[in-house]
Amino acid sequence: MKISVKVPATTANFGSGFDCLGMALPIYNVITIEETVLPGTGIEINIISETDDDDEFAIEHIPKDENNIIYKAVEMLYNSIGQSPSELKINIKSQIPIAKGLGSSASIIVGGLYAANELLNRPADEAALLSIATEVEGHPDNVTPAIVGGLVLTSLEDDGSIVYRKLPWPDEWQLTVCVPDYELATDISRSVLPKEVPLKDAAFNARRTAMFVEALYSKDAELMKLALQDKLHQSYRTKLVPGLQEIIDNLKHEENVIGCVLSGAGPSLLIISQKNNLDRIKSIVSDTWANFNVRTDIRTMKVEEKGAQVIESSFT
Ligand code: HSE
Repeated sequence: MKISVKVPATTANFGSGFDCLGMALPIYNVITIEETVLPGTGIEINIISETDDDDEFAIEHIPKDENNIIYKAVEMLYNSIGQSPSELKINIKSQIPIAKGLGSSASIIVGGLYAANELLNRPADEAALLSIATEVEGHPDNVTPAIVGGLVLTSLEDDGSIVYRKLPWPDEWQLTVCVPDYELATDISRSVLPKEVPLKDAAFNARRTAMFVEALYSKDAELMKLALQDKLHQSYRTKLVPGLQEIIDNLKHEENVIGCVLSGAGPSLLIISQKNNLDRIKSIVSDTWANFNVRTDIRTMKVEEKGAQVIESSFT
């Protein structure tokens, strides 16, 4: 049996919504799991990059054995029904750039879980898949939209369950994703965050996240400008993202720009703007990063409303 699953990229945080806001984007990984018939062949993991980006280095450093996150996710699903995975061939066709803050690892975890769930005749429901994926990833803001699509507010509860709600994204607000040519692993980007934060910073983010939800429903760009501000993670990460502060400063006075935030743990940026003057925004970002000898791939895209989908299921 061979199952292929298509999973979208994701952008997380939106500034103030650290670890709780995430959105699916129309860039995809396809994860295929095939049961091999020969006993003793074990687990084989192959990764094929289909990005324009030079992902060779990143791919070389990804474990291709039981230490891979996809194996961990698949193993947890098998274990949940008292089985262990064996003799599986896992192929990852990757269009989502690796270590760029676009949910590449979440998509791989989710794709592995979905494919294995199909192979096993769907023992896990959506809630179980969300919990396992979050346990492997560590936070729910990428895996939730990767599973359910759209923009979500998501919360990891103390018992390990995930509570999420979809939020509406106004059509008139553009999403521009700017991907630099350098990488930043999420664990490094999380390692610079403090274990504790001042109460006033926590209160700042709490009110900004509330503003985010209201700004979406009322399509209030002025409120959204405030909502995208953050005091819990971005300033700590600025030193890991050369050019970030300069780009934010250079975009500050552009009338049509609503905000510029780190995409997930970075280093990619997400710019939210009104519909006009996209070319000007793009040239500000690429010129500023060029001053740091950074090349960038800039794409304006729509929300992907669909989450993970099985695209092939066949007997081999
Ligand atoms: N919320 C996570 C972080 C997203 O900011 O570390 C990681 O992709």
